[in-house]
Amino acid sequence: MQVKFSPYTYYPNSAKPNFKSNEDVFVDKNGVITNKTMTFFFRDDLDWQHLGEFLEHRYKNSDNVNITDYGCSDGSEAYTIAMTIFTHAPHLKDTAFPIIAKDNFPDVLEDARSGKVHIYNKDIYSINYYTKNRIWDFMQAVRCNKFGYDMALAPKPVLQDKIIFEQGDILEDLDNLPEKNNVIFCRNFWKYFDKENYHNLAAHLYEKTKDNGLVVIGNVEERLGIPLILNQHGFTETSVENVYAPVKKMAV
Ligand SMILES: C[S@@+](CC[C@H](N)C(=O)[O-])C[C@H]1O[C@@H](n2cnc3c(N)ncnc32)[C@H](O)[C@@H]1O
Repeated sequence: MQVKFSPYTYYPNSAKPNFKSNEDVFVDKNGVITNKTMTFFFRDDLDWQHLGEFLEHRYKNSDNVNITDYGCSDGSEAYTIAMTIFTHAPHLKDTAFPIIAKDNFPDVLEDARSGKVHIYNKDIYSINYYTKNRIWDFMQAVRCNKFGYDMALAPKPVLQDKIIFEQGDILEDLDNLPEKNNVIFCRNFWKYFDKENYHNLAAHLYEKTKDNGLVVIGNVEERLGIPLILNQHGFTETSVENVYAPVKKMAV
């Protein structure tokens, strides 16, 4: 079996275990689905250790690193980024926090702010794999009260204090970011946009990252062809898969 990143979270299709994803489905009063928030800790479309080491190398001499996690869902991704900094980029502990975690859907944010994340057993393995078995330094087990999950975790203050949850739509919010050193996570939600927005968003991301920033996407974006659009708007993929740095703009 080819092990791509974490052996605990990468499965070839033939061997995929039958677990449900961390997905909450929000429906309106007519039963129409308004939002799906599938997410994971240490989602396996990124090599989180490599990312942490890369960030440390790139920003260790910078006064600050401004990390914004758009489409943060229940907070799993923002906590993942924070644990990645603690474990694989320790020199950024004083400059990379707080991480700003944003979602445009109010119910999702309420969930994230509750300080409780419902998970499956595989998340435990992923967290331990990437934090070198330090899950209980960062998390405590709490009562699971959502049907269908294996357990629930509450981030300890050492982690929770590092994240600020805010409402924000990436299509409208980017101008609120600082001018330099922006690391923008926008992963696994471009499928919700009209295709006409892809180029506008890529151009806007370039403007906000051209001064020593980075853009981090996910496998959903890869499948949608977003890497090509990012290339057209001046980005090139770094040595970390799914992480893009601004270079020179080509004509679109
Ligand atoms: C499938 S989840 C992905 C969560 C996480 N980024 C990950 O990769 O695991 C998508 C999240 O993006 C949010 N979202 C969708 N459109 C958005 C937008 N325009 N701006 C910010 N968040 C958005 C949704 O509410 C949902 O919580």
